[in-house]
Amino acid sequence: MWDKFYVTTPIYYVNATPHIGHSYTTIAADCLARQMRKAKGKKNVFFLTGTDEHGQKIQKAAEVTGIEPQDFTDKMVLIYKDLWKKLNISYDDFIRTTEDRHVEFVREVLEILRKKGDIYLAQYSGWYCTPCETFWTEMQLKDGNCPDCARPVEKITENNYFFKLSRYQEWLIGYIKEKPDFILPRNRRNEVLSFLELNKLTDLCISRPKERLSWGIPLPFSPEHVVYVWFDALINYISAAGSFDEQGEYHSEWWPADLQLIGKDILRQHAIYWPIMLRALNIEPPKTVFAHGWWMIGEDKMSKSRGNVISPLDMADNFGVDAYRYFLLRDVPFGMDGNFSEEAITKRFNGDLANDLGNLVYRTLTMVEKYFCGLIPDMGNLDEQGSRIQEKINSLSGEIASALEAVDFGRALEQIWILVNMANKYVEERKPWNLAKENKREELKGFIRILAEVVRKVSEEIYPFMPDTALSISAQIGKEKIEKGKPLFPRIET
Ligand code: MSP
Repeated sequence: MWDKFYVTTPIYYVNATPHIGHSYTTIAADCLARQMRKAKGKKNVFFLTGTDEHGQKIQKAAEVTGIEPQDFTDKMVLIYKDLWKKLNISYDDFIRTTEDRHVEFVREVLEILRKKGDIYLAQYSGWYCTPCETFWTEMQLKDGNCPDCARPVEKITENNYFFKLSRYQEWLIGYIKEKPDFILPRNRRNEVLSFLELNKLTDLCISRPKERLSWGIPLPFSPEHVVYVWFDALINYISAAGSFDEQGEYHSEWWPADLQLIGKDILRQHAIYWPIMLRALNIEPPKTVFAHGWWMIGEDKMSKSRGNVISPLDMADNFGVDAYRYFLLRDVPFGMDGNFSEEAITKRFNGDLANDLGNLVYRTLTMVEKYFCGLIPDMGNLDEQGSRIQEKINSLSGEIASALEAVDFGRALEQIWILVNMANKYVEERKPWNLAKENKREELKGFIRILAEVVRKVSEEIYPFMPDTALSISAQIGKEKIEKGKPLFPRIET
């Protein structure tokens, strides 16, 4: 098999500006894409992100501002693109669900499924939560309100088109059992599986009457209806990556996606609707859907509806883009919830970045200057501690590759910091000023050279996480002659 890597993020709703939660998934995907480009070559990686631009949420947000939905989304999408640029997000493609390439593709999907008999018309009656764009049954309501967001729901009866989810339930259960890595982490897989084993899936209502919602893709076989926004949105992952032939067979150089990153809030759609839609289209499911946890503020999920959002732009301005990226990927194991606070970033900044990494780079360069006139010496004698550092340098790339293949950013970064700390400890214990005083030239050469090797290795391995920092370190350490700059992470006084 061709060794490619196709990674996706959710496509974000453009009704509001992005917050830390949105930037989290995108930074995680960026880190993996950068790592895989290093490992597999630039041409073999496809990193897709984009925006979800249809549906009631967007229509309402546009109405509030008094502009047409298309103009509204055209404006909002720029905010996302600017943020991704600022955060150094190296996506290969950015899909908007209002683009022709997507709209046409969705209409083809509907035709194919309709012909197959997987889409049918029926009368529908249920309780609708507009902000969540979800129908609930009477039983599912909590105190008469939406069970997800606790806001009021409306009773709605109408003719709609349905997608036969129920037909594929047994298949999906079998598939999840057979492919242990399809849904990760493990606890999420178990959650989905037990849900499927305990509940009967009802068919999915995939249309909305135009008089209620006009901002959507019209159904090819019923111009009076537009497509339900989730059905439209999920399709982005294949519309951006390939096309159907005349026989309705899908062709793509990238699909199946190797990794689809999502937050746990949208697991049901990605672990149930999505594989079934693909199955009905005779397309393979993605290899892995990985659901990460939430950034919380105290007890609450950070979200627009809770009004507790923090802007990633502010964080990048206050702490620097790389420190922000580092914090998100380091502070909380991917998959778990975490608490966001400026104190927590400051702590990581002053500890891991200023004291450990920044200090190592700065002191190494200073010693190269002081003892070797800015020229990195050839390898001299290595003592035991130096040899152990050399071994860690040799094993680091492999350790990081395997941690990132397991989508474990924390473990990968820990490995880098083990090396950084070994090197800092070496400086403190070996006391180079004594070596210099005693004129132990070969020992001093070995000592400085190995530190320079550490700095080089770290700059190489840290690149997917902190691209600018990596480039800056590698420019400072140079090839033979160093170019010392200012300290990378000047301590934040608290
Ligand atoms: N448009 C849908 C997704 C369609 S994908 C085919 C959507 N958009 S969203 O704008 O609400 O973004 C949801 C995603 O943003 C989550 O799945 C997650 O990736 C990220 N996050 C939003 N809030 C978050 C936190 N508080 N914490 C971590 N990530 C969260 O749902």
